[in-house]
Amino acid sequence: MPFHRMGVHKVLGNVPLVGKVLDAPYQRMVKNAINIADLRSIAKLRAHKMVFDYLDAGADDEISLRRGKDAYSELEMHFHVLSGLQPPLDLSTKVFGEDVKLPFFACPTAGNRMFHTQGETAAAKAAQHHGTLYGLSSLATTGITEIGEIHKGPKVFQLYVWKDRELVKDVLQKAKEGGFQALALTVDFTWYGNRERDIRNGFTIPPNYTPKQVWEAIKAPAWSWDFLANPAYNYACINTEVPADSLAAFVNSQINPAFNWQDAEWLLGEWNGPSAIKGVIRPDDAVKAKETGFTTMWVSNHGARQLETSPATIDVLPSIREAVGPDTEIILDGGVQRGTDIAKALALGADSVGVGKPYLYGLAAGGEAGVIKALEILRVELDRAMGLLGTGTVDDLKKRGPGLIKRRHASARDYPDRYAFERGYGGGII
Ligand code: LAC
Repeated sequence: MPFHRMGVHKVLGNVPLVGKVLDAPYQRMVKNAINIADLRSIAKLRAHKMVFDYLDAGADDEISLRRGKDAYSELEMHFHVLSGLQPPLDLSTKVFGEDVKLPFFACPTAGNRMFHTQGETAAAKAAQHHGTLYGLSSLATTGITEIGEIHKGPKVFQLYVWKDRELVKDVLQKAKEGGFQALALTVDFTWYGNRERDIRNGFTIPPNYTPKQVWEAIKAPAWSWDFLANPAYNYACINTEVPADSLAAFVNSQINPAFNWQDAEWLLGEWNGPSAIKGVIRPDDAVKAKETGFTTMWVSNHGARQLETSPATIDVLPSIREAVGPDTEIILDGGVQRGTDIAKALALGADSVGVGKPYLYGLAAGGEAGVIKALEILRVELDRAMGLLGTGTVDDLKKRGPGLIKRRHASARDYPDRYAFERGYGGGII
């Protein structure tokens, strides 16, 4: 990071007003945003192109990415009327055995400081603000201890299938000390997914100062200032020596593709607490995971960023619920953009729902205010969806859920324009 090595951030850091002025229009837009699609549009305006694309993308042709969202539009809500409910509803529930105020939360996601200098601290503060679970990625750019001090509520620490068992032990220890109640092992990341937007953009952190990257940086002055006026970031949870340069190269050097069920058993023994297998989409794997000792099934296809044409998670959810029975905890993520999506997931077998891209759009658009806004949008939408559906509590929704959701008979493809990826989900204020 040449500019950081030269100490440019120390000079620019003395004039924080410039950053505030540059960010003022985006803060205004965040305030006026009415849905997650709006936050996405603002994030696209504010962030450097390669950063926005890293966040927004799926693998290969992005078929799973599109289907993951469209799958929700194929499910219809057959609502009850005159249920006698009074808003706002009580949305509280339990995740990993801990009380939370919302049945959805911010998933662990890598390198948050690349989107906004407030990074993971913004997301953790927003989760604390809303009284919900926070998930910290082991590729975070903020340390475990710092997050533990910010977010006093329930937290889950995410781990990849790392090669180095000593590093894993060390990180688990830190997570315990930082007050993390649960562990999530990401199992769909043994190979790095093929994100072609990243390859085309020459995605590196920082930009590699080619004319194209410099031009993109000029077009994103608030992001560029934010980046240049703050200290360089590193993978603070695992190795503070390694600058967060090439994400793909670093991950590839640390991941053990041969990690298997025995390794998972070893890990669970080391952790000895609530534990999720994150990235399970098959009922037989879920049964095996339960037998191995995982307490929670986390139905996910990694935001459609890994195996292209993997199924929409909402479509496989009922089969996982059936396989593990009513008492095993299930978390779902993937494709969630609306409160109605969350309601459908809860109705079809999830105990709670993780969101990744929605809160990262908020972060890239407006830091902490943006993440608070993203979670607030989803909270209000979920409250409305549950009220109109006639379900007063999360438990009620889960109990009566399957009878309330039906697959639409005609195909959504009857309306290609309405369901188009770029234009759907509420359009945008830009
Ligand atoms: C990703 C990884 C790093 O999806 O989790 O980009």
